[in-house]
Amino acid sequence: MEKYLINGGKPLQGEVEISGAKNAAVAIIPAAIMVKGVCRLENLPQISDTDTLLRVLTYMGAVVRTINRSTVEIDCTNVQIDRLPADMWALTRRIRASYYLIGAMLGRFGAARSTMPGGCNFGVRPIDQHIKGLTALGADVNVSGGFIRAAAKSGRLHGARIYLDKVSVGATVNIMIAAATAEGRTVIENVAREPHIVDLANFLNSMGADVRGAGTDVIKIRGVKELHGGTYALIPDQIEAGTYMAAVAAAGGEIRVSNVIPKHLDCISSKLREMNVQIEDGDDYVIVKREGPLRHTNIKTMPYPGFPTDMQPQISAVLCCADGVSIVTEGVWDNRYKYVDELRKMGAQVQVQDRVALIQGVPHLTGATVKACDLRAGAAIVIAGLAAEGATYVEDIRFIERGYQNIVGKLQALGADIQCVDVPDEPEELRDDWIAG
Ligand code: EPZ
Repeated sequence: MEKYLINGGKPLQGEVEISGAKNAAVAIIPAAIMVKGVCRLENLPQISDTDTLLRVLTYMGAVVRTINRSTVEIDCTNVQIDRLPADMWALTRRIRASYYLIGAMLGRFGAARSTMPGGCNFGVRPIDQHIKGLTALGADVNVSGGFIRAAAKSGRLHGARIYLDKVSVGATVNIMIAAATAEGRTVIENVAREPHIVDLANFLNSMGADVRGAGTDVIKIRGVKELHGGTYALIPDQIEAGTYMAAVAAAGGEIRVSNVIPKHLDCISSKLREMNVQIEDGDDYVIVKREGPLRHTNIKTMPYPGFPTDMQPQISAVLCCADGVSIVTEGVWDNRYKYVDELRKMGAQVQVQDRVALIQGVPHLTGATVKACDLRAGAAIVIAGLAAEGATYVEDIRFIERGYQNIVGKLQALGADIQCVDVPDEPEELRDDWIAG
């Protein structure tokens, strides 16, 4: 089984280049279905979630051309949805973003079908706000047999005024995509304001849509007849950048995180500064340095511009090595602490009650064999391994590779002793002796 082997305790030095934003890419690739022409996407992250979505579009009849490592051209002129191959559903079941196919197919064809989405397991992940918005746009939506089916009652969606009961990235994305070619005007209120929402709006507008207000809590869309091809470069990944900032906070040292938008990192930088991490903002980079002891702090995750929930596991791993007691409150998901059991195997002192984690910092963590429970939990375990004394084996690394391009290579370039190894699965009782020996 492929695992990461990390020998921790080494400070990080050097420069890391951030890739394109995963959560922008997984919204923009489905949105390309709306375009009768070629979409050239630049700064696309090379991760398994984007590969999966590009394969799904190919099954639908899109022509995908890889130009280079971070640039693809997608031609959806001949996409059709009435003969979707069964193999495609094995892919759509894997990822959360597959439900964006519904908004895109509805917007292009007036009808849509896809499986219920997969994605990280944080407890209940409803889609009622997606259904509320698409229904308001004139679609009949039903869920049965593990599939979502939708059809515009009059053949084409129409504009509507929609108030989201919950700030939802996914519902905001899905409704925005579908409304781009609906007849008339759509106003969506109480929308998500994440950087990747703005990126999607900018992509749609560069393809001829008329979307205004993205980044505020009200988005206004004037439907257009159809979208044309064009070129679009994605924003850098706020969470990938934050993950490397947390890594140097935990391991110590000084790194330059390049190809970022510092404004998107404000919430992360301000918390790290409270923890005695020095951060200097450049135009498109940040310099992050930690040499003295980490200080405890309290964090509550919120929709943007609050502290991002997708940084909660990573910052909690850092707080395990901070002086004093920290309180982390998960403000978005019901159950996003599965990774705590893995940190405890490394000596972390964490108590969890519902959405609150109480973290008592310890002088150091110790290496162990641990699992990545999901994408960001896996990143947290890697961060803990970088700080820990001794060897850490990280299993189930497929979760990490869904959202982090070349994480091993990027960390090696920062001086981390990490490698991807293929080792047999040891019986539980032998593992620690085997590693300790
Ligand atoms: C997106 O998930 C991200 N995934 C998640 O990132 C991220 O954690 C989340 O937004 C919050 O920022 C992608 O973009 C692919 P939501 P999404 O709809 O869209 C409730 C990562 O690590 N809700 O914003 O599924 C929901 O239960 C991943 O990159 C409803 O009640 O999240 C949650 O409490 C993990 N009804 C809250 O809203 C709905 O119809 C926010 O969910 C939809 C959501």
